[in-house]
Amino acid sequence: MGKRIVITGVPGVGKTTVVNGALEKLKGEGISYEPINFGTFMFEVASAQKVVSDRDGMRKLPGSVQKEIQRRAAQAMAKIEGNIIIDTHCTVKTPKGFLAGLPEWVLREIIPDMVILVETDEDQILSRRLNDPTRTRDPDTSGEIALHQEYNRAMAAAYSMVSGCTVKIVKNQDFLLDRAIADMADALR
Ligand code: AP5
Repeated sequence: MGKRIVITGVPGVGKTTVVNGALEKLKGEGISYEPINFGTFMFEVASAQKVVSDRDGMRKLPGSVQKEIQRRAAQAMAKIEGNIIIDTHCTVKTPKGFLAGLPEWVLREIIPDMVILVETDEDQILSRRLNDPTRTRDPDTSGEIALHQEYNRAMAAAYSMVSGCTVKIVKNQDFLLDRAIADMADALR
């Protein structure tokens, strides 16, 4: 089995942007990972069940439905061999509160080596969300985004206790994307 890395961060922090940059950098060194998006796996399951029409609708589904889709997506991912990067969430903000992105039954399937938290200042995240017309983001205040990031750190510590994974924080600040990509590549080497 290869390395299993989980990348997390609140919506719009730029985790996909940073991961793609790091993978491009590592390709030249002969290091490769298969990037997997947890949300895409879930959306495939949810679309087949005809319970949502877009990926941003999934976090509004009843908790029991989200958990069932989550479990099935994790089982599908567990079958993938080699080095993988799973782009997902420490917690998902639902109308009923924070839902664990990696509850025990998901951790048991994936068994991550490392959980990476991509973070930046909440005002920068708010601005990135407002400037991204392709997604239906929740209208959070910067204070709510700060709370979500704080809660994600606590959950990452819990995942480390359960699975033995390490937890790494990568900052993705405005005008410093290159630094974030370099830090991510270092973590993945
Ligand atoms: P998903 O699609 O992963 O949701 P997301 O977090 O909204 O992901 P994005 O790809 O939109 O955000 P990103 O942080 O990667 O930012 P991006 O790189 O695009 O998941 C969809 C749904 O699936 C979830 O809502 C949930 O329902 C479900 N789900 C997923 N995992 C789950 C789980 N484990 N359990 C249960 N449900 C789960 O960048 C954003 C913008 O910022 C871009 O415009 C970019 O150009 C800009 N940007 C990036 N970096 C910088 C920088 N340094 N400076 C300036 N701008 C920057």
